Amino acid sequence: LFSAVEMAPRDPILGLNEQFAADTNPSKVNLGVGVYFDDNGKLPLLQCVQAAEKAMMDKPAARGYLPIDGIVAYDNAVKALVFGADSDVVKSGRVSTVQAIGGTGGLKIGADFLKKVSPGATVLISDPSWENHRAIFQNAGFEVGSYRYYDAATRSVNFEGMLADLNAAAPGTIVVLHACCHNPTGYDITAAQWDQVIAAVKAKNLTAFLDMAYQGFGHGIAEDGAVIGKFVAAGLNIFVSTSFSKSFSLYGERVGALSVVASDKDEAARVLSQLKIVIRTNYSNPPTHGGAVVAAVLNNPELRALWEKELGEMRVRIKEMRQKLVDGLRAAGVQQDMSFITTQIGMFSYSGLSKDQMVRLRNEFGVYGTDTGRMCVAALNSKNIDYVCQAIAKVF
Ligand code: LMR
Repeated sequence: LFSAVEMAPRDPILGLNEQFAADTNPSKVNLGVGVYFDDNGKLPLLQCVQAAEKAMMDKPAARGYLPIDGIVAYDNAVKALVFGADSDVVKSGRVSTVQAIGGTGGLKIGADFLKKVSPGATVLISDPSWENHRAIFQNAGFEVGSYRYYDAATRSVNFEGMLADLNAAAPGTIVVLHACCHNPTGYDITAAQWDQVIAAVKAKNLTAFLDMAYQGFGHGIAEDGAVIGKFVAAGLNIFVSTSFSKSFSLYGERVGALSVVASDKDEAARVLSQLKIVIRTNYSNPPTHGGAVVAAVLNNPELRALWEKELGEMRVRIKEMRQKLVDGLRAAGVQQDMSFITTQIGMFSYSGLSKDQMVRLRNEFGVYGTDTGRMCVAALNSKNIDYVCQAIAKVF
């Protein structure tokens, strides 16, 4: 049965974790996967999460099956976070939100549903994009192409190219967009440029699928989420995948969501019924704990305020590490102007280093980033920054 099964390549991101775990270099630093570590190099367990969990432990609850679409209080909290609790689109019942197994799960549910409603559509992802975008949509049966996004020569977004590619797309094309903190480049488009993207999506009758895995890591929760309101105001039917892996430091709980904006309440109910079939035939219904924690925090004003404070601290620390990286590289002898690192946003820096340089960093220094030159600056800290800067300087 398995004699012809080929060995698949390692995952370009999570495969690095496996390699990192096996590396015996005592100075090793993992800047591969997008995970936030605190200044002591520890994965934080947020206080808001601990408080919610303590309250849950004080009143232990049995674990029955959740509804197929997840915890009602969770789905409502996601709607409020993503669209605004008092927004017309939520109040008029046009949003269908389902709890998902992380942001990846939200993308997968959306992709499977889209394959049913738009079987002949092609999907466009940004060039470059998060490696898993292509794989998820291909595995759902779509042909996946790309729209221009990053211009290596100018270290900025090739917005003209992006817009031209969107305008040239066939009607019905599904366009995967990064709502904020573009992964992997760290370069976002401006609010005015979003308006132009939205106009193109509308004029060309494209379907926008916004991946929002880093809300709160750019400029703030509301600021990063503002783009969703723009799409809604334009009257578009959109998909939004949400992840709380990073913003709640709940990576292993797989807490995410998919929200779909329909044209009216009746349409939204029909969409929800189809999303539930996708979920039921994949994994039946979601797990309890992570969703219950996030719902408890988002629905409690004090815990919510604590979450915003803790998320803000993560955001500020990442920005500080960007500056320290720029300064440290200069001090380590890198001649090239690296100040672009501080204009990037979110967890990642697209360093501009080649695959060869990244492989050398890994093999000679135990400093792990992806082959594309992406480094997770959220894993830098005051103890490893000098070592990382010196390692980079040596491969420059
Ligand atoms: C990343 O890009 O490193 C994260 O989104 C983690 C993942 O699942 O790839």
